[in-house]
Amino acid sequence: MSNSTSFSHQIRRIKPADHLTDGSDHGGLKRSMGFLALLMFSVGSIVGTGIFVILGVAIPKAGPAVVISFALAAVTCSFSALAYAELAGSIPVSGSSYSYTYATLGEMLAWIVGWCLMLEYGVSVSAVAVGWGQYLNEFLSTFGISIPAAFANPPGEGGGVFNVPAVIVVLACMFLLLRGASESAKVNTAMVFLKIGILLFFCVVAFTAFDGSNFNPFLPLGIAGVSAAAGQVFFSYIGFDAASTAGEEAKNPKRDLPRAIIGSLIVVTILYVLVAVAAIGARGGQPSDWEGKDSEAVLSSIAAEVTGSSWAPALIAVGAVISIFSVVLVTMYGQTRILFAMGRDGLLPKAFTKVSARTQTPVTNTIIVAIVISILAAFVPLGQLAEATSIGTLAAFVVVNFGVIALWMARPELERTFRVPLLPLFPIVGAILCLFLISNLDVITWIVFFIWMAVGIALYLAYGRRHSNAPAERPGEIPAEIAVAKLPTRSIKPGTVIGMVLVAGVGVYAADRLISGGVNAFQAGVWVVLIAVVLGGLWYALTGLREESAGRAAAAAGDQERGAQLMRKAIKTTTLALVIPALALVLAVLVATPERADAERANESAATSAPAQVG
Ligand code: ALA
Repeated sequence: MSNSTSFSHQIRRIKPADHLTDGSDHGGLKRSMGFLALLMFSVGSIVGTGIFVILGVAIPKAGPAVVISFALAAVTCSFSALAYAELAGSIPVSGSSYSYTYATLGEMLAWIVGWCLMLEYGVSVSAVAVGWGQYLNEFLSTFGISIPAAFANPPGEGGGVFNVPAVIVVLACMFLLLRGASESAKVNTAMVFLKIGILLFFCVVAFTAFDGSNFNPFLPLGIAGVSAAAGQVFFSYIGFDAASTAGEEAKNPKRDLPRAIIGSLIVVTILYVLVAVAAIGARGGQPSDWEGKDSEAVLSSIAAEVTGSSWAPALIAVGAVISIFSVVLVTMYGQTRILFAMGRDGLLPKAFTKVSARTQTPVTNTIIVAIVISILAAFVPLGQLAEATSIGTLAAFVVVNFGVIALWMARPELERTFRVPLLPLFPIVGAILCLFLISNLDVITWIVFFIWMAVGIALYLAYGRRHSNAPAERPGEIPAEIAVAKLPTRSIKPGTVIGMVLVAGVGVYAADRLISGGVNAFQAGVWVVLIAVVLGGLWYALTGLREESAGRAAAAAGDQERGAQLMRKAIKTTTLALVIPALALVLAVLVATPERADAERANESAATSAPAQVG
């Protein structure tokens, strides 16, 4: 027995997918949300500060090709959205990626993901609340009212001491959440319709001044500008996974959650590209067109330029104030539900799980979250909060993508309402795209992230590991005959073969960099190593494919145990064979391309010229 509680057993403990829903029927949360409410919930948590400010930073970086940056960020999100959709459809509980990781990759990684989610949700609420304060100021200025700088900014920005509007919005949302989730969801649905209306109103106004020649030249700053801007606009997509935190409050989570997550991403991408095209058509797409213009209320100021009136920009400012309010609301909701799940699993104190008998909401939890978020919102600038949000989010996405592969290996028999196509390729591409965007973030953000992670791991070792109520033993494997029947229903061959073609392409790219010259000895070495890794990856992927065939043959010959074992091994092998060359590519791009250095320089100059920007 002693080894069942040993350290390595503890940190790899799994909450089986079916156990995670335990408790939801007994004094748990109310199931009140249908598909439309979930879709609105998701759109509501995506569209926030980002689209109202991001163009002022992103267009000067990428030019009209910012449209491609939006598409690139959307593609990155879509791969992860597919992973979320599959996991939400098979493990429909509160707690989002934290719960999914607990069911797939084990307790310590689950805790780490939960800890990342505090950046994605908690810190993001602070960032968004700060943006809300700025827009409130913008709106009030229409009437000649302005909040004194000392009480409208954090210390170190514009003579600020304490950001009062940001704290006010957090406390207002806290009171709404304390009154009950279904009521908050209704308020949210109304707000989402309103903010989509306001963004469409902006498009209509801006299209009256549309000039097609503004899209020429389309790529003034090259591909490097596009990828730098993609890192920036990613922030405006964060939140598409929020619906997955409402697993226990959805009426039909298995059917509705995947549809809501993917649907919201599609709706938002169309909306963002429309807004970007309208803005470029009206103001221009070249960096010089944006110099010296107000980049905090871009949409309002473009509307002012186009109409020459003050009512159109004021209307858009109201839209921003409302939409950002709804992001604070749903994101804060998400944070309380994640802590609820972590508390219920024993990794956090029980105070986080106490539900009020009258409103059926977790009261203490909500109040603690509101206090911590208020403190951050009052004292930390928006740019830093937004970058911390992005890195935490992307790190959680990486784990979620691998969670899909792990859950398929462990529990292929679970009912899935949605399946990520081409396993293991899609989750791998999803994870790698996230790592690529992480590589676009500031070094200081990396450092803060590592410190945050170190604190989290220390807390887990000191508290969570000892108080966890996960079963001491990992669940036994499912019977081999079920595994061999289910595992091949998702042939890994097509995904692996397409992955091998992509990996071979990486090899050709590396060889091209090597031959075309212009690289120093160190960079040449990097490309040689990458070519070697690619060759190794291709060989290893072939091994994986052989294991899969051998597994099927063994199963057909009646040796179920060996069949299941080989099939699982094949998934592991092919995953590694694709992941390692892809990782090596991200590293090589990071250290050995001149474009990379250019993009960093562009980042720095944009950061110094617009210090208050999001992302
Ligand atoms: N996506 C959210 C926003 O743009 C975080 O504000």
